[in-house]
Amino acid sequence: MPKGKHLRLKDKVVIVTGSGAGIGKSIAEVFAAEGAKIVAGSRREINGQPVVEGIIDAGGEAVFVKCDVSEEAGVKKLIETAVSTYGGIDVLVNNAGVNFVKPFEKVEPADWDRVINTDLRGTYLCSWYSVPHMLKRGGGSIINITSVHTLACLPGAAPYDAAKWGIIGLTKSMAVEFASRKIRVNALSPGLIDTQIWDDIQAASPDIDECLSYWWSNIPAGRVGTPKEIAHTALFLAGDESRYTTGANIVVDGGMTSQLISQEPYQSKSLEGKTRE
Ligand SMILES: NC(=O)c1ccc[n+]([C@@H]2O[C@H](COP(=O)([O-])OP(=O)(O)OC[C@H]3O[C@@H](n4cnc5c(N)ncnc54)[C@H](O)[C@@H]3O)[C@@H](O)[C@H]2O)c1
Repeated sequence: MPKGKHLRLKDKVVIVTGSGAGIGKSIAEVFAAEGAKIVAGSRREINGQPVVEGIIDAGGEAVFVKCDVSEEAGVKKLIETAVSTYGGIDVLVNNAGVNFVKPFEKVEPADWDRVINTDLRGTYLCSWYSVPHMLKRGGGSIINITSVHTLACLPGAAPYDAAKWGIIGLTKSMAVEFASRKIRVNALSPGLIDTQIWDDIQAASPDIDECLSYWWSNIPAGRVGTPKEIAHTALFLAGDESRYTTGANIVVDGGMTSQLISQEPYQSKSLEGKTRE
């Protein structure tokens, strides 16, 4: 840990789900560098354990818990490990999530259950088990990683859209219910971020130049975001600087959802706003 630096999460106990890769990994690393004690929950030990080892090697504190957030027993173990190892819970980052794209008619009940159980039920379960411990500490911060899908939807993403919109409802309901007891609950909605999904999009594209030009015309910033850019917004939501922020859905998307339609491949002349006679 950097000596003499003001650490924004010094000694805060933070649970991060889905911390074995992508955004969750970055959140765990950035928070640990700010002095947090990380309880890293992930389904797969093979990628979850090295993240924890990396944090410890860098002088931080972290423990790995193998857990599937859709299963109550795993979530219980995650919460119990946080309490038995570090004495309580201050921050919960509900990050674990899965998605796929397929036509609605092909979405079988098992597909629906997989997404809803991980993204929505997992967020509920981790929150439900964490709340009593946060209340014992006099408050806490819950950060739900949602998506730009909470502002607009895509064809072929019905279970994901339903799950992420559901998380917004849960976020706002819990924010209202717990505001007086000092647990803040916020959603953080990323646009397209440079993780496995971006690799998959590019690999599935028949023409990479067309793929890039399509995406850049849909993202005003002209690039995908980095996991660290999401982690830094999460850091604001975790710490005291956001103490008056609750029930919010903070969008970090390079302008993607502020743009009405994708940019034209040609330049239009400027419009003068004439009135019809
Ligand atoms: N990457 C993007 O462009 C993007 C955009 C918007 C929202 N998001 C959201 O951000 C979150 C993280 O996405 P990412 O791109 O970093 O994903 P990722 O696939 O790179 O990493 C997800 C991690 O979660 C773990 N995980 C998956 N299901 C789990 C479960 N049931 N229990 C515990 N762990 C589980 C995986 O093993 C993996 O380590 C997700 O909620 C996703 O919906 C991502």
